Amino acid sequence: MSDETRGKLRRTTTVGELRLAVAAARSEGKSVGLVPTMGALHQGHLSLVEASVAQCGFTVVTIFVNPAQFGPDEDLARYPCTLEADLDALARCGADVAFVPAAEEIYPAGHATGVELGGVAEPLEGQHRAGHFAGVATVVLKLFNMAGADVAYFGRKDYQQMQVVKQMVADLNVPITICECPTVREPDGLAMSSRNKYLAGDARQRALVLWKSLCLARRAVAQGQRDGETILRQMREVIRSAEGAVIDYAALVDPETLAGVARVEQPTLAVLAVKIDETRLIDNCLLEPPLE
Ligand code: PAF
Repeated sequence: MSDETRGKLRRTTTVGELRLAVAAARSEGKSVGLVPTMGALHQGHLSLVEASVAQCGFTVVTIFVNPAQFGPDEDLARYPCTLEADLDALARCGADVAFVPAAEEIYPAGHATGVELGGVAEPLEGQHRAGHFAGVATVVLKLFNMAGADVAYFGRKDYQQMQVVKQMVADLNVPITICECPTVREPDGLAMSSRNKYLAGDARQRALVLWKSLCLARRAVAQGQRDGETILRQMREVIRSAEGAVIDYAALVDPETLAGVARVEQPTLAVLAVKIDETRLIDNCLLEPPLE
């Protein structure tokens, strides 16, 4: 498809154009939904777009690979870019605007202000990817201010990111509602992620150990196991059974505070970050002990 054949989907590259498009929608009484992405769209992203299209009169999707959230040794340079296919998919989903800014539009020369985080940003990814969430929160706040949307859609796949954004919105009184959407999985359980594109050869198959270990944790809790260390030991064994799998962390945490828990007596989040060869994957699932 080309821009002409993508129906109502409009590609904008400047904040001015984006604001005009949103103002026109507002003047027609439409509510505005925002889906921030870094492109390389898959069904996980598209489920967020579909939720916005179903709930809001006007849907803006942003596509911007944000350099500020990548560390020096991370995959910024090789991050997948599939812009034309992304725009086709957004047109099919019924999105109204794709905001695809250049880096200078987001970070003009002299840009020097950022969001400082604490709380839920500190453990897990916060320990392993210094500066990552500050980069995420800063760009997300800027995108919120640029689009002026009513609702923004985030997936539970990046659970800690979603909690960081929720905390920022509450702490800084940002006038937007955060809508949480479920993780979308491949039929065999692999959580959809743009980074799955890196999984070459049999790495795709080996990556299933993340989902297998989360399923094992769920089964253990359903069968009455409550001891966190026992569950984590079993999870780590499953992950290490895959060649080339290196665990960054495997943890059981409180779903609100992300503080570690020793016993699974309440709903608890099992969270994982695992490298399969060079590809770092994250996943999580809620463990829900049956009520006694
Ligand atoms: O989840 C992502 O793709 C990114 O972290 C986000 C929220 C678009 C910010 O760059």
